[in-house]
This record gives sequence, structure tokens and C-alpha cells, in this order.
Amino acid sequence: MTLTFTIDPAPGPGLHAEITGLWTAASNAGGAIGFVHRVTEEEVRAAGEKQFAGIAPAGPDRLLIARETATGRLAALLLMESMRFGPMDHWRLVSKVMVHPDLQGRGHGAALLAEAERTARTWGLDGLKLQVRGGLGLESFYARSGYTEVGRVPGAIRVAPGDDRDDVTMWLDLR
Ligand SMILES: CC(C)(COP(=O)(O)OP(=O)(O)OC[C@H]1O[C@@H](n2cnc3c(N)ncnc32)[C@H](O)[C@@H]1OP(=O)(O)O)[C@@H](O)C(=O)NCCC(=O)NCCS
Repeated sequence: MTLTFTIDPAPGPGLHAEITGLWTAASNAGGAIGFVHRVTEEEVRAAGEKQFAGIAPAGPDRLLIARETATGRLAALLLMESMRFGPMDHWRLVSKVMVHPDLQGRGHGAALLAEAERTARTWGLDGLKLQVRGGLGLESFYARSGYTEVGRVPGAIRVAPGDDRDDVTMWLDLR
């Protein structure tokens, strides 16, 4: 099954509803994408509204989506966020990396990261940064796509009382 990637898809209520559905499903399947507990679509919609407000053409962040080529179903997405600070404008923060739980483990996550890297290179960026929740093994997933760990704040993410996770910074150098 192949995916079709689109950067800066046309925004609108239909797309936002699709994203809310994917984000909710990926979160509730154990994803580390802004929540530490089971979420309702309503909670995700509220978080999504804030996020969408920063995405082009409304803001400087860029959205990369992947649809199943055959069906058009939204399969995966990530954000390439601007720091909104000139001295940091030569790189972007990759965030909200998610693949629909039904479609995980088939290489789509790696393909999504590869497309983000290709896009960043066409923009002439020097690097891509990630903030990763420790304790899920995600570091090795990103390492396979060329990211290296450059920092780690121990226990910075309190998932639950007595369950603190590291906040891991990873970097893909494009220079
Ligand atoms: C992380 C994620 C994007 C990977 O997408 P994917 O399509 O499953 O990735 P791929 O098929 O390209 O790669 C799968 C490999 O990544 C690793 N991997 C994927 N998700 C993982 C996870 N949550 N924890 C640890 N390793 C993971 C596995 O080792 C797997 O390797 P295997 O096939 O040898 O078992 C996807 O699991 C996801 O959407 N997770 C929920 C959201 C999330 O937590 N995002 C990370 C934000 S930092």
C-alpha cells in the first residue's frame, strides 16, 4: 500500500476533523503526541484548534500529511514547527509525528520522516529537531532515520505520579 504525501494541504473543517480522528486514535494506542492519558476527540479538538492556528497559511508552521493513495484515507502526519525566532529560523521542530494505529509497523513512519527530510532540504534548512518522550523506545525509531540524541532531561515528563520520563532531544543535521 503506497502513500501520497502533501505539504501544506488546503485547511478546512474536513481536514481538521480527519486530523482529530487520527490524533485521538494514535494517542489512545499509546502514542506520545501531546497527551499522557486516554483522550476524547473533544480534548484533541481543543488542542488541535491551537495547533491549526499556527499552520500555514495562518502561521509559520507547516503540515505534512500522507494519504493512502488508493483510498484517500488520512494515514499519517507530522508538523514542521517554526521557533518564531529569527536566530533559529534555519531549522524546524518536527512534532506530532503519527501514523494511524491500523497502519503502524509497515514502514510508513520511516517514509514520513524521509519525506520531511526531503522537504527540509528543498527549503535549505540546516537541521530538524525532535523532542521525544523517553521510555517508549522511540529513540531507536528516529535513529534509524538518521537522528542522533543530543540531549536528555531526566524525568522531565510526569506521565503519572511515580512515572517520570526523560525528555529526549534528537537532531538530524542536514548541513
Ligand atoms: C512512532 C510511529 C510514528 C512509527 O510509525 P510506524 O509506521 O509504526 O513506523 P515504521 O513502520 O516505519 O517503523 C516501525 C519500527 O519503529 C519502531 N517503533 C514504532 N513505534 C514505536 C514505539 N511507539 N515505540 C518503540 N518503537 C517503535 C519499532 O521498532 C518498529 O520496528 P519493527 O518493525 O522492527 O518492530 C508510530 O508508531 C506512531 O504513530 N506512534 C504513535 C504516536 C507517537 O508516539 N509518535 C511519536 C512522537 S515523538
